[in-house]
Amino acid sequence: MGYKMTTTPQLVTSSGNDGMARRAQDNLWMHFTRHSVYEDGLGQVPIIVRGEGEYFFDDRGKRYLDGISSLFTVQLGHGREELAEAAAKQMKELAYFPVWSYAHPRAVELAERLVDLAPGDLNRVFFTSSGGEAIESAWKAIKQHFKLVGKPMKHKAISRYVAYHGTPQGALSLTGIPDAKKFFEPLVPGSIRVPNTNPYRLPEGYDAADERFGIWAADRIEEAIIMEGPETVCAVFLEPVQNSGGCFVPPPGYLQRVREICDQYDVFMVADETICAFGRIGDYFSMSRFGVTPDIITCAKGMTSGYAPLGAMIVNERLFEPFRHGTNTFLHGYTWAGHPVSSAVALAALDIYERDGIMEHVRKNEGPFFDTISKLHDLPIVGDVRGMGYFYGIELVKDKITKETFNDDEAERLLRGFLSKELFEAGLYCRADDRGDPVIQLAPTLTMDQSHFDTMEQILRDVLTRAWAIL
Ligand SMILES: Cc1ncc(COP(=O)(O)O)c(C=O)c1O
Repeated sequence: MGYKMTTTPQLVTSSGNDGMARRAQDNLWMHFTRHSVYEDGLGQVPIIVRGEGEYFFDDRGKRYLDGISSLFTVQLGHGREELAEAAAKQMKELAYFPVWSYAHPRAVELAERLVDLAPGDLNRVFFTSSGGEAIESAWKAIKQHFKLVGKPMKHKAISRYVAYHGTPQGALSLTGIPDAKKFFEPLVPGSIRVPNTNPYRLPEGYDAADERFGIWAADRIEEAIIMEGPETVCAVFLEPVQNSGGCFVPPPGYLQRVREICDQYDVFMVADETICAFGRIGDYFSMSRFGVTPDIITCAKGMTSGYAPLGAMIVNERLFEPFRHGTNTFLHGYTWAGHPVSSAVALAALDIYERDGIMEHVRKNEGPFFDTISKLHDLPIVGDVRGMGYFYGIELVKDKITKETFNDDEAERLLRGFLSKELFEAGLYCRADDRGDPVIQLAPTLTMDQSHFDTMEQILRDVLTRAWAIL
């Protein structure tokens, strides 16, 4: 069976004349990358040299539409000088100081700003340098919280099938993708999996638009809590819209019922908004749009629009309360967390989100975007198109009627052997992903409009039509 967590190398046939592709192959260990493609001479490493608005360019001068915001990250598009200037200004003023017992103005200002934007009483920001570190921090903070309040047995955490929560060993333990975990077992114990809310492959007798499905899925969490023993369970981690598996939007009633269950069993509800926050779903935090307040939000990526690394967990008063007292200390931190330059960039990015009305733009355009890519339904290979905001998954199937999916060999041939390469060659950067059933994921820069949606649809139509022909 193929290892499903590799990102697919693009088989670029020629590159710039400075030998950068060869040099990359010689010395750079690329992440989640099957290096044999390059070692065996089946392709060259694509070298991306420049970005401008909704596009980036490779070292041959070829232009690509950034249909996945590079890695669900460059929400505001490439080449924003204001963000570069914010970074340069901060570097001149104070390039680095940690947030370990000391503070600096940008971290304070950014924490205030995030608290203002976050729902409910999520009033406390713990910075990290990434989304995975935010997840790691959340699980640790929750475990310590319960030790401090006299419930030391509460340590297990629940997450969902096929969900990705990052690579640190705690976050990886919560990840629901066996292929991503198998080489690193044993991972952190006490991680329990429950069903996700895949609307295309749901249990017999349920309808994805019906609250009964939402309640059914949430009740699987209650079942797991009871099975494990409520005195041992400390947290539920979920993405409001789950990325892996292809944009599973929460069904009606689901998040509300999860909230009730967490309250009933004294379990913290953690919304992993690493992807969903900062406009991806049309609000600063997608949980605000869904009208449910979690106990913790984790976020990263879009906070700086990718112009500098930064993550955070934002926690409520209840979680933080025991840390206010006596010698209690969260013995946890990261050198780069709340970095002054990253914080300055995040503040500048928030200014742009606000000034340019990015949330309104996404909410206004999500319908037309969905309608445009939904035209692909007439292709025999397209089983489902789903998502919301600027975040959609197109599930590919062998048979539309039976929803039969591809076997491992076919998925390998289709996704790695054909689709990723052809989409990239056609000038569209998006993701062909088989961590669950095969999907193409679209998460474009939040600045795109109808002309870009049309381009995406046309390229996808052409490439998916050809993919069907070679199957
Ligand atoms: C939902 C989710 N959680 C966590 C992470 C890990 O974030 P990072 O790569 O910044 O550690 C990701 C990364 O894509 C993610 O999508």
